[in-house]
Amino acid sequence: MALKFSIVTLFSFILSLAVIYKAQSVTIDIKKFGAQNGDITQAFTNAWKEACAATSNVKIVIPKGTYKMSGVEVKGPCKAPIEIQVDGTIQAPADPSQLKGAEQWVTIGYVSHFTLSGHGIFDGQGATAWKQNKCGSNKSCARRAMNLGFNFLNHSVVRDITSKDSKYFHVNVLACNNFTFDGFKVSAPHDSANTDGIHIGRSNNVKILNTKIATGDDCVSLGDGNTRLVVKNVECGPGHGISVGSLGLYDNEDNIDDFLVKNVTIKNADNGVRIKSWPSTPVSITVTNMRFEDITMVNVANPIIIDQEYCPWNECSKKSPSKVKISKVYFKNIKGTSATKEGVILLCSKSVPCQGVELSDINLTYKGAPTVAVCANVSPKISGKAPTCTAAKSIF
Ligand SMILES: *[C@@H]1O[C@H](CO)[C@@H](O)[C@H](O)[C@H]1NC(C)=O
Ligand SMILES: *[C@@H]1O[C@H](CO)[C@@H](O)[C@H](O)[C@H]1NC(C)=O
Ligand SMILES: *[C@@H]1O[C@H](CO)[C@@H](O)[C@H](O)[C@H]1NC(C)=O
Ligand SMILES: *[C@@H]1O[C@H](CO)[C@@H](O)[C@H](O)[C@H]1NC(C)=O
Ligand SMILES: *[C@@H]1O[C@H](CO)[C@@H](O)[C@H](O)[C@H]1NC(C)=O
Repeated sequence: MALKFSIVTLFSFILSLAVIYKAQSVTIDIKKFGAQNGDITQAFTNAWKEACAATSNVKIVIPKGTYKMSGVEVKGPCKAPIEIQVDGTIQAPADPSQLKGAEQWVTIGYVSHFTLSGHGIFDGQGATAWKQNKCGSNKSCARRAMNLGFNFLNHSVVRDITSKDSKYFHVNVLACNNFTFDGFKVSAPHDSANTDGIHIGRSNNVKILNTKIATGDDCVSLGDGNTRLVVKNVECGPGHGISVGSLGLYDNEDNIDDFLVKNVTIKNADNGVRIKSWPSTPVSITVTNMRFEDITMVNVANPIIIDQEYCPWNECSKKSPSKVKISKVYFKNIKGTSATKEGVILLCSKSVPCQGVELSDINLTYKGAPTVAVCANVSPKISGKAPTCTAAKSIF
């Protein structure tokens, strides 16, 4: 009897906890703020204002349906965690000039414990912008908006959402701490210009997990000043692979330390895993503790590449070697098919040769035959099966 009583007490205690918990979390349907002709620009900003002022958890829901939205920028600090659940498709203006030179179409900044969730789509409608956006060859090209910008966020999550056809990079992560992408998707055609999947800069502890990226440029690219980043269980392709850099172009750049890429498939890509820096670097920085393991390449042009004379369109001066010092780089259990004979290219700087580079169990084939490794200013440690270096024409 006493036992039965205490079980009943326990149950009602748990039930009341659940009721309290539920009462503390508020859901706001974006439609509450109106959607004139399906445009939710103003509604989005108003919903954020209400959510940001709330003293308990708030979830903003954008239900199934198709909406239009122009540029929005929302910021904290907010009083309590906010979740935005997108189940619908939100379309950016197709005409790039309507975003008035904004860096991003949707920018979220300066909040902690933010979640973006749902099976909805941010559709950048980038086709018009890509045609006008030859920013590689045309230095005076107009800047285009990225789909999503996350600036100065702590302890935040992006779950399940899709970023589609961005005009420029899909996602920019700047100065965030403890930020996780899980089940995220990026989609754009292979020939869409400059549509990097996720670019990360000046951040700490960012994880990209269970994510599928198909796009026209790097799937994931790291800028300077990053520490503790993980890319795991990711499919990349088409695209330009996973890239550290390019580094060493500007004089205020910071080091990169601790990057793990594990269980990744890279398909039909220009590059697989790559570290790149410009020559004639204005400052000395370091890139260290890079680990690339359990990676499958399918028809990748440069599956493994360190390129310290990165200089597209001959835009740079090759007066002096790169001062970006690369060390402790492990390439382990990387297999599959290369689209060129040179499966491994390690072109390190003459002034600061790479140190502690290891090639372990590398099995890359080109037309059925093993690929070769071409190296300069580096003596990689070989373990298991891996190609031994032949000397590249010295890069400087
Ligand atoms: C995020 O964390 C940093 C470092 O702890 C802190 O300085 C900053 O104020 C935090 N930002 C927010 C929005 O909580
Ligand atoms: C370069 O971009 C600018 C701005 O979009 C444009 O006016 C100009 O025609 C472009 N030049 C070329 C050669 O494409
Ligand atoms: C990181 O952020 C997640 C999501 O908000 C949170 O659950 C977790 O406790 C945070 N980790 C640390 C170490 O603060
Ligand atoms: C590796 O990643 C794929 C997704 O790309 C996932 O299906 C698989 O379970 C992962 N394997 C391990 C061992 O985590
Ligand atoms: C390397 O890969 C090829 C093709 O996938 C395979 O036939 C071969 O057995 C592998 N070699 C080793 C040593 O794993």
